[in-house]
Amino acid sequence: MLPKKAVIPVAGLGTRFLPATKVIPKEMLTVVDRPTIQYIVEEVVTSGIKEVVLVTASGKSAIEDHFDYSFELETFLAQKGKLDLLNEVRQISRLIEVVSVRQKRPLGLGHAVQVTKQVVGNEPFVVCLGDDLVEADIPCVKQMLNVYEKYQETVIAVQEVPEEEISRYGIVEGEKLEDGIFKVSRIIEKPAPGTTKSRLAVIGRYILRPEIYDCLERTLPGVGGEIQLTDALDTIRKERALYAYKFRGKRFDAGDKFGFLQAIIHYGLRHPQLGGPFKEYLKDIVKGLE
Ligand code: G1P
Repeated sequence: MLPKKAVIPVAGLGTRFLPATKVIPKEMLTVVDRPTIQYIVEEVVTSGIKEVVLVTASGKSAIEDHFDYSFELETFLAQKGKLDLLNEVRQISRLIEVVSVRQKRPLGLGHAVQVTKQVVGNEPFVVCLGDDLVEADIPCVKQMLNVYEKYQETVIAVQEVPEEEISRYGIVEGEKLEDGIFKVSRIIEKPAPGTTKSRLAVIGRYILRPEIYDCLERTLPGVGGEIQLTDALDTIRKERALYAYKFRGKRFDAGDKFGFLQAIIHYGLRHPQLGGPFKEYLKDIVKGLE
């Protein structure tokens, strides 16, 4: 059975992006013409998944509203004859079925996944972290579903990062099985420099099996005093198997100010209408810098 649901944890406070995120959820910050959460949802939908489970907290209702039907806005746009905009707004609310679960206390990513147990049930599921935007010809989740279909075990997305960045990520060590696929022999959350030779960092895309819930229940607080998904994945590795997949595409850390700027440039250049003029504008700017 292939996953039918995608869990997107959105309960985080977005402290890396203050003051922008004081009132606005970080997932609602706009890259070009849509909030970052919409990029994630579009990736999930184009991968064939229609049900999204949002793990929310107070102050995050704008995200649910964004994917909901808006009677006032749609009526207004229809009355004004703004049919293109009406279409666009309608498409967003038709993208997915959303279920929300509250994470009542900020106990970590592992805990955020744990609270979805009742909603997800006894089936494999996808987890996408809202900070990680991945631009790819074949959506990253779709690439991972292909790997899951073959191995039928937990799959996590990885990319190589420079040595000085390893302590920002979950890092995997493993044996290469085939092009881009590794059998994981160790996974460590935010290792200190010098404690691993691996540069394979976990980015926010996971295909999990229902056994993860039992592992999470047995997981004690780890790095930062939080229940780490990485630690539960290490139990999965020991008790079943864990595969790491080096996805094809470009990933942006949209939860970080510099990563966010990079995402704006990247998606701006690829925008169907704005891309051309934006490129010319950037060329002028670069000339001015020379
Ligand atoms: C989380 C995970 C980490 C992963 C990262 C990817 O960390 O715990 O293993 O490498 O996402 O973005 P966070 O960024 O929430 O600290």
